[in-house]
Amino acid sequence: MQLDDLYRRVIMDHYKNPRNRGKFEDGGLTVDLNNPTCGDRISLQLKVGDGVVKDARFTGEGCSISMSSASMMTEAVKGRTFEEAMDLANRFSSLMKGEQVEFDDYEDIEALSGVNKFPARIKCATLAWNALKKGINEG
Ligand code: FES
Repeated sequence: MQLDDLYRRVIMDHYKNPRNRGKFEDGGLTVDLNNPTCGDRISLQLKVGDGVVKDARFTGEGCSISMSSASMMTEAVKGRTFEEAMDLANRFSSLMKGEQVEFDDYEDIEALSGVNKFPARIKCATLAWNALKKGINEG
């Protein structure tokens, strides 16, 4: 199987079977953001305490890139300290700039590496990560 096909499968798996989709019944630190280019939106909820992202959920509407990216981000960030979560988000930004970045800690994210060739889609992929950064800065 070609790497592109593998990546496409990973993205579609997260899109069709999103991890951590939904809301916490008892609430959480909530960040609402939208993609200015298309109006699609994400609502991210984080459970934070002691400088750690303990859990994450998201809802929203968007394309396969934005929703799969949100699914991956919420999986990757659980249990991370704020510092580690920011490091993940910064590595994701580098990935979107076309830099060679590895995600040994959550390899599915590398499936989005091809997005950097499509400038219009970068905003889709970074939507959830921008919500994460905002949430950590507020948390
Ligand atoms: Fe709207 Fe991708 S087209 S988030």
